[in-house]
Amino acid sequence: MREIVASAPGKVNLHLGVGEARADGYHDLVSVFHAVDRREVVRLRIDGDPVAGPAVETMRTTFFVDRPDEDIDGPGNLAWRAVEAVVARAGVAVPRVRIEVDKHVFVAGGMAGGSADAAAALVAANALVAEYGEPLSPQVLYELAASLGADVPFSLMGGTALGTGRGDELVEMLSRGRLHWVFINPKIGINTGKAFSLLDDLRHGNPALLPHLDSAQLSQALTSGDVGRIAAALHNDLEEPALTLRPVLKRVLAAAGDAGRRAIVSGSGPTVAVLCDSADATRFAAEHVAEQFDAYEVFVAEGPDHGAVVERVS
Ligand code: C5P
Repeated sequence: MREIVASAPGKVNLHLGVGEARADGYHDLVSVFHAVDRREVVRLRIDGDPVAGPAVETMRTTFFVDRPDEDIDGPGNLAWRAVEAVVARAGVAVPRVRIEVDKHVFVAGGMAGGSADAAAALVAANALVAEYGEPLSPQVLYELAASLGADVPFSLMGGTALGTGRGDELVEMLSRGRLHWVFINPKIGINTGKAFSLLDDLRHGNPALLPHLDSAQLSQALTSGDVGRIAAALHNDLEEPALTLRPVLKRVLAAAGDAGRRAIVSGSGPTVAVLCDSADATRFAAEHVAEQFDAYEVFVAEGPDHGAVVERVS
């Protein structure tokens, strides 16, 4: 039995400006993605000789965070689809694989955990293909990533990046220093599509809910490395729909904001991300939050972290 191990980071959006709904069901975004060192691990376990046809035999997820009610280990899982997509596109026969995912990023939390699984599976599958034929180019891997989901290209890339289009047209952003975070999972998953469509509905009734498509203030703050300025520049257009869907988040945001510099909803939520001044400050904030919300999951992480990589081939 051989294995290929890859990992990819979770993310928080430092800025998430949502524009008009498009004809394809997506929204144009101006998003500043920031990868954190809370990483998903994807292992491909390989046995036997190359065969034609589907590459994936089974998959199994081990949860290091709260597990969802439904079984996510099937052909619809993004990691499964990523492996099949790479092998089909490369046109190379490979031995059948078993996928094992170690899930460290909250499920349906707005931290792109599923996208990180997909990105790690893409690079792992490409390493497998490379053993039996020509691997895919970075450009083709990126195209497959974008076809799997709007956040998957960023999970591949990592770092801190400006995303436009569906959030998948990426350019790296300059930033100075490390950012220290506490992440809180109130265990009330939010469907990403629902958050986006509720924002459209809320905007019909409230013209003041304008799209924030200018991330210049954040960009300058990131280059300065000043945590206070970065905290002041954080913004998320999806916060309003998240708070409407899950009103308890208002209390969590208020308590978490008191514990650190500033608390925001991560992506479409419900994860709350708390920016703190230092690694020490995150430990204090995490304890403070855990005391108030003892049923919630809490972890600390730092960013920026690197994108999807193959960790080991054995
Ligand atoms: O691409 P992904 O499957 O992660 O997106 C989930 C859903 O979120 C989409 O089906 C769409 O409803 C919404 N979405 C959007 N605009 C984006 C990204 C996601 O409307 N830029």
